Amino acid sequence: MLKSTLIRAAEAGAAVMQRYFQGEFKISNKEGINNLVTEADHASEKAIFEVIKEDYPDHYLLSEEAGEIKMDSNYKWIIDPIDGTVNFAHGLPICCVSIAVEQDGEMILGAVYNPFIKEFYFGQRGYGATLNDKKITVSNETSLAKSCLVTGFPYSYLDQPNGPLEVFSTLIRAGVPVRRLGSAAIDLCWVAAGRFDGFYEHKLQAWDSAAGFLIVEEAGGRVSDFADARYSPYQPHIIATNGKIHDELVDVVNGGKITQL
Ligand code: IPD
Ligand code: CA
Ligand code: CA
Repeated sequence: MLKSTLIRAAEAGAAVMQRYFQGEFKISNKEGINNLVTEADHASEKAIFEVIKEDYPDHYLLSEEAGEIKMDSNYKWIIDPIDGTVNFAHGLPICCVSIAVEQDGEMILGAVYNPFIKEFYFGQRGYGATLNDKKITVSNETSLAKSCLVTGFPYSYLDQPNGPLEVFSTLIRAGVPVRRLGSAAIDLCWVAAGRFDGFYEHKLQAWDSAAGFLIVEEAGGRVSDFADARYSPYQPHIIATNGKIHDELVDVVNGGKITQL
């Protein structure tokens, strides 16, 4: 039942995204420059809530636009009604709905759905990860120098040692391709599907990564914070890889240089 509610909730949010996409909608600004929220984010969130509340009215909800709906429950739904809002607002079809279910502090289910390219990613703790119901696995690349990576940048500049631009510069100067798609949930799923060998980002929120990190782990990948400790979506840093380049990427994110072949 949890799984079918999750799937229906992701589909409901995605249907709203499709309805608004490339049409007219109101756009407003949140904290930071170009940190947008559109009418469609709120409408998607509402549609997702309706599905979940119908089946589980007493579950805890944490969602980007509405914040926390605290309930005394072992289950928490972590929702990003549109991940990749800037892309969405510009008519770029790299955006999705991301929903995860946490039980007693452990992520057990995750769904990421991009209706524009018809990709539905799903992960269940202990049961693997799928793209449109077909099993997916991470890539086999063993060298960071030969990897294709993806990252994202926060809405407000992070002036800190080994900040996003320093790490990006180290990788680009070494000739490593690093893409920037604008949706952390899709970045993670594309690592899970073996399209990218690794992803890192300096400042994410729980709703950006909760579903995607489980999908990467269930596809055989490794996910950690910058200190290489067990990943928690309630802190900002993430490194998600195929496992084989993980140690090398952790080193570079912490200021290390790339070992050439
Ligand atoms: C953003 C995207 C982006 C990441 C930002 C997130 P939003 O989410 O995931 O890739 O770089 O940090 O805030 O605002 O589009 O839901
Ligand atoms: Ca997001
Ligand atoms: Ca969002």
